[in-house]
Amino acid sequence: MKILITGGAGFIGSHVVRRMVTRYPEYQIFNLDALTYAGNLENLLDVENYPNYHFIKGDITDQDFISQLFEKYRFDGVIHLAAESHVDRSISDPLAFAKTNVLGTMILLNAFKALWNNNWGGKRFYHVSTDEVYGTLGETGLFTEKTPYSPNSPYSASKASSDHFVRAYGETYGLPYVISNCSNNYGPNHFPEKLIPLFLNNIIENKALPVYGDGNYTRDWLFVKDHARAIDLVFHKGSTGDTYNIGGFNEWKNIDLVKLLCKIMDRKLNRNEGSSEQLITNVKDRPGHDFRYAIDASKIKNELGWEPSVTFEEGLEQTVDWYMENEEWLKRVTSGAYQEYYNKQYR
Ligand code: NAD
Ligand code: TYD
Repeated sequence: MKILITGGAGFIGSHVVRRMVTRYPEYQIFNLDALTYAGNLENLLDVENYPNYHFIKGDITDQDFISQLFEKYRFDGVIHLAAESHVDRSISDPLAFAKTNVLGTMILLNAFKALWNNNWGGKRFYHVSTDEVYGTLGETGLFTEKTPYSPNSPYSASKASSDHFVRAYGETYGLPYVISNCSNNYGPNHFPEKLIPLFLNNIIENKALPVYGDGNYTRDWLFVKDHARAIDLVFHKGSTGDTYNIGGFNEWKNIDLVKLLCKIMDRKLNRNEGSSEQLITNVKDRPGHDFRYAIDASKIKNELGWEPSVTFEEGLEQTVDWYMENEEWLKRVTSGAYQEYYNKQYR
């Protein structure tokens, strides 16, 4: 079985690649990644010499390259994660999100269809998506697989659009797909532009912690290795043409989460209790900021037996330890272009 994983050098992708390479030595795993600012082969140093692992540098929006790649390797399965993934970047450059997330997904779908049309036996195209496609919740309620799509940011609109194209290829051409929509992930190897790794890095550097608006926005956090485990399960056991919501059963208001992080970091850095909290700064809100995300993950729990395996406290502790033990990684990814982005975003 030859499996193409796109975006495998990114945050979630690297955990998926590691899991598939180490658990399934009988599979050949091909990691296709353009190595944008978010892609980092350092994330996969521990598996790069496995005989069943192959890295290919390339762009999913390059149509000729992608069709030649599919003809050459004849992938039986695709786990598609490559994307532009940060809401703030989508606000300043929405077209880049349409290009990679929508056009790139369609180019992969076309290549898969051209290769296996009329001969689908056992083949599968898996699109890894986000709960942000559902838009925002008020104080109550949960996103189920039946919640209508109502994306509010260019990022979520591009992911909603790519979900729709995947489903449309299923209906129109019979392409065997599966989709999952997951809540906010956290864990090792997370690029420090998203809330948790950004704030961790800023606490280490004694820099301001920029909380958007009043900080009462709510997210449902899932440890990345639990997401990778769910992806493995959905890829192997999910029903064709179906969608699964994946979530942490773990809602936090941003401000409460930031205070918890500050407390853990004070302990880890041997700082006086309360000192990191003083770095909290309320800054201008994100435009179109979704108020609350929360996932009803009972379908994947009931049908596939998946549940998160670590508590938030355990996961956060592991995450903080990883960042403190991997200071070099953090230093390297926050040099150069990162500083430019940071100054522009938070000036
Ligand atoms: P990430 O930004 O860390 O990684 C994205 C990867 O895709 C990078 O390695 C990048 O180099 C690669 N890439 C980008 N454009 C490419 C292109 N044109 N061709 C080939 N490779 C390209 O993202 P992530 O947080 O790991 O998210 C992975 C996927 O999971 C995305 O599709 C995202 O929408 C989805 N998702 C993320 C979360 C989350 O909390 N991070 C939650 C739910 C779903
Ligand atoms: P983020 O990690 O960007 O994920 P998403 O927007 O996809 O949910 O943001 C998580 C929450 O944290 C979101 O409500 C926005 C907020 N946030 C801040 O308050 N300050 C920041 O600097 C960042 C990056 C996010």
